[in-house]
Amino acid sequence: MQKCIWGSKEASTDKVLLRDAKTKGGSAVELELRGSRQVIGKGSFGTITKMQAKRMGRPTEYVAVKQPEPCQCDVLEKNVLTKLDHKNIVSLKYHYLEDGLYNIVLELVDEGNLYDYLHTKGHYAPGRGLGILTELFTYQLFRGLAYCHASDIVHRDLKPENLLIDTTTGVLKIADFGCSCYLHEREGRPCYVGTRDFRAPELIMDASRYCSKVDIWAGGIILTELILKKPVFYRESMESSIDQLYCVFEYLGLPTSEDCEAMHVRVRKWMPVTRKRSFQKTFSGSPVRDLPTFLHLIDRILTYRPKDRYTAWQVCAHPFFNVLRLPQTRLPNGNPLPPLFDFSTEEIATMPDCVHGAFEPFLGRHFRKEQQQQPVVAI
Ligand SMILES: Nc1ncnc2c1ncn2[C@@H]1O[C@H](COP(=O)(O)OP(=O)(O)O)[C@@H](O)[C@H]1O
Ligand SMILES: [Mg+2]
Repeated sequence: MQKCIWGSKEASTDKVLLRDAKTKGGSAVELELRGSRQVIGKGSFGTITKMQAKRMGRPTEYVAVKQPEPCQCDVLEKNVLTKLDHKNIVSLKYHYLEDGLYNIVLELVDEGNLYDYLHTKGHYAPGRGLGILTELFTYQLFRGLAYCHASDIVHRDLKPENLLIDTTTGVLKIADFGCSCYLHEREGRPCYVGTRDFRAPELIMDASRYCSKVDIWAGGIILTELILKKPVFYRESMESSIDQLYCVFEYLGLPTSEDCEAMHVRVRKWMPVTRKRSFQKTFSGSPVRDLPTFLHLIDRILTYRPKDRYTAWQVCAHPFFNVLRLPQTRLPNGNPLPPLFDFSTEEIATMPDCVHGAFEPFLGRHFRKEQQQQPVVAI
């Protein structure tokens, strides 16, 4: 699917000549990018500016323009975002070539990223954490991930800085696909991907193969950060990936040779570690609505063997998120929650059978009719 419009821009003007990719040889359209070029974000790979975009015959809209640093991430991010179309993934509107690099024009998510929100005074309260926003943002993160993984895309750099939020509506969108890859391409690619605190153990241990479950691990760490205000496997004094790994060992114990085989990593001799920490101890007294339910979920995400880790759909279906289904649940500002269970046919088609029960009331008449038409097997 090609959903955006592409073109090229001369460096000296603010006019971009675009051609609608949907209509082959279609007439060129002009997009004017105006505004004060206010920088609203800067990461390792690009600078994001807030601009006004004016296209002939359309109202002016605010957009976020990402100008990449010279690297190969621009082509990758443009290609991946062109393919993706989901309410929990930042939407690509246009892209254009400037000085040989792909600039991407994204929908603007004005409030910025989840990391800044969490660390802005007044948002995280010690006894309350982020309140309902913890469940709300985590659920949307995993819903977006379920869609990415069904599209064979692994994000590989999930962290709160790469999640955009709007607290007025309660919507979260996954952004920054500059490190992502297609599932079939990941073998033989360097494992040094992702930010240390969020990196799955198989990546730290240099796995020869890995899968979309690296995103599930990172998503689990993000959930712990929303609760504790810092990732669960984080220490002040941490200097290297090996320190990071030892933090994990203190909770999960050393991986067995079967765990190593499941992670596609070499069996190594590690210094002995006492399993002195537990999720139970760390999270009791933390702002979690229902501790046993939370511990059940986190146990199934932060586990060595990728195959045993939940899929994104299994996470979404977990009772930890039941509070999002209660009609009386509201955003902190009193607004209703955004639609969370309005699954598209594309999404329903990718849901494994094991989660149908959890989402049954939301799957719609169409789905129920299909179910009823299944031949009855006599036993
Ligand atoms: N569409 C957007 N709307 C609003 N802010 C954005 C948008 N995209 C990115 N940002 C801001 O810019 C920051 C850097 O963007 P990102 O795409 O992560 O760049 P990098 O690849 O360099 O890390 C984000 O953390 C976020 O604060
Ligand atoms: Mg980023």
